[in-house]
Amino acid sequence: MPQEPTRSIALVIALTYLVAAVLFIVGLKLLSSPRTARRGNAIGALGMLLAIAATLLDQQIIGFRWILLGFAIGTAAGAWLALAVKMTAMPQMVALLNGFGGAASAIVAIAEYHLLLLDPAQRATDVVVSIMATTLIGALTFTGSMVAFAKLQELMPGKAITFPLQKALNFALLAAAVGVSAWLVVDFDMPTVFTALIVISLVVGVLLVIPIGGADMPVVISLLNSYSGMAGAAAGFVLHNNVLIISGALVGASGIILTQIMCRAMNRSLTNVLFGAFGATTTAAAGDGADRPGRTVRPEDAAVMLGYARSVVFVPGYGLAVAQAQHSVKELATLLEKRGVDVKYAIHPVAGRMPGHMNVLLAEADVPYDKLYEMDDINREFDRTDVALVIGANDVTNPAARTDPTSPLYGMPILDVDHAKSVIVIKRSMNPGFAGIENELYYNEKTAMLFGDAKKMLVAVAGEISKA
Ligand code: TAP
Repeated sequence: MPQEPTRSIALVIALTYLVAAVLFIVGLKLLSSPRTARRGNAIGALGMLLAIAATLLDQQIIGFRWILLGFAIGTAAGAWLALAVKMTAMPQMVALLNGFGGAASAIVAIAEYHLLLLDPAQRATDVVVSIMATTLIGALTFTGSMVAFAKLQELMPGKAITFPLQKALNFALLAAAVGVSAWLVVDFDMPTVFTALIVISLVVGVLLVIPIGGADMPVVISLLNSYSGMAGAAAGFVLHNNVLIISGALVGASGIILTQIMCRAMNRSLTNVLFGAFGATTTAAAGDGADRPGRTVRPEDAAVMLGYARSVVFVPGYGLAVAQAQHSVKELATLLEKRGVDVKYAIHPVAGRMPGHMNVLLAEADVPYDKLYEMDDINREFDRTDVALVIGANDVTNPAARTDPTSPLYGMPILDVDHAKSVIVIKRSMNPGFAGIENELYYNEKTAMLFGDAKKMLVAVAGEISKA
């Protein structure tokens, strides 16, 4: 009889975890479309609330003081970041969150290792294996994500950092980390070797990410996201916590799927991204373009070109996000549509700095989803398009990706804006984009450069069109 309350609480916890897991899966499904993404986010958050509440019912909790302190600090930091971090800094934020996820899992595994050092009777093989896997994956996710964060925040050079025998060193260290883990599974009582495992894993994380640079960063961010999920799932095995296993596996699997989508978008294999040191040559390929300014136009000229076109395709990129010009784009589109112009939006999968960046921005301005065209669909349209209006996009329109085998972008599918009858490019200067290379599109005879901040230029063009 005295065990009854514990058993019923265990049942409540198990059932709540089950409901939370279902909510995670439904939430993820809804996140796959911009129409349902908000609902998906709310449902996922509800699942997480239930999972946390159920975990707090656990009978093994000996005191709530530290839990409440962590809860208060985490909530305050999370709320502050959500309010303060700009949309354009989201990739860095995601990198940080991946890193913290990896670190949290590694810390759980390290704590559990020390508990089991004191209590040999509790050492089940599955738990011991999970401790080593969690430590390895969690620690390398932490340092790898910190390097990705530093690159994206421009605290360190964004290009690939390479040195002789780098791949051999990486393989040797990775093999050493796996070997040391296996050794510890066989012979657990070696805290110094365990410390070596932590150190090697931390170093591997740094070394795996420094040779990745330039336009390949989206791939590495989604891969680290997947690693943080795998570390979480492994920590779930350490703690025998089902909801952690399920949610970690979901993050791990969705991160891998996203990595695959990103690789496909860049037309590159994962091994090529991880070991190809892509971006190493980007600085050499960059030019300031100051001596070749391209053909320039004023807002009034652009207004004439757009106002008298039959079909216009807007091509948004990272500059649209920087300028926060999504509402101005929508206003210009509305004006043009009133004049009978057919307006479409071309969405490149890696435009901006995070997956779905352009979709999120345009959704914020209530641009109808059916006006947004994926790359393959819109590329068929450019031949029939009068004006392609490129708004702060650069790499995703660079024809060198099709034509120049020496370009670091070579092979990446791009938006074929140069197939349109004429092209207007809005950007502030001839500076290169994320990959750091010059864009021949700007010197194409069809192209007119409209120099200035995207929002200001769109407002100016719209002003000219409304005057007409
Ligand atoms: P980018 O190639 O980065 O070019 C953006 C352009 O916007 C720049 O050339 C810049 O030129 C212009 N710009 C910046 N601020 C502006 C403003 N206020 N007004 C007008 N123009 C402005 O962007 P993209 O074409 O979207 O390509 C994305 C790149 O980022 C790809 O290389 C991609 O691989 C990489 N990346 C993507 C992701 C994801 S998941 N989407 C994540 C990380 C990296 P000026 O300075 O001359 O104005």
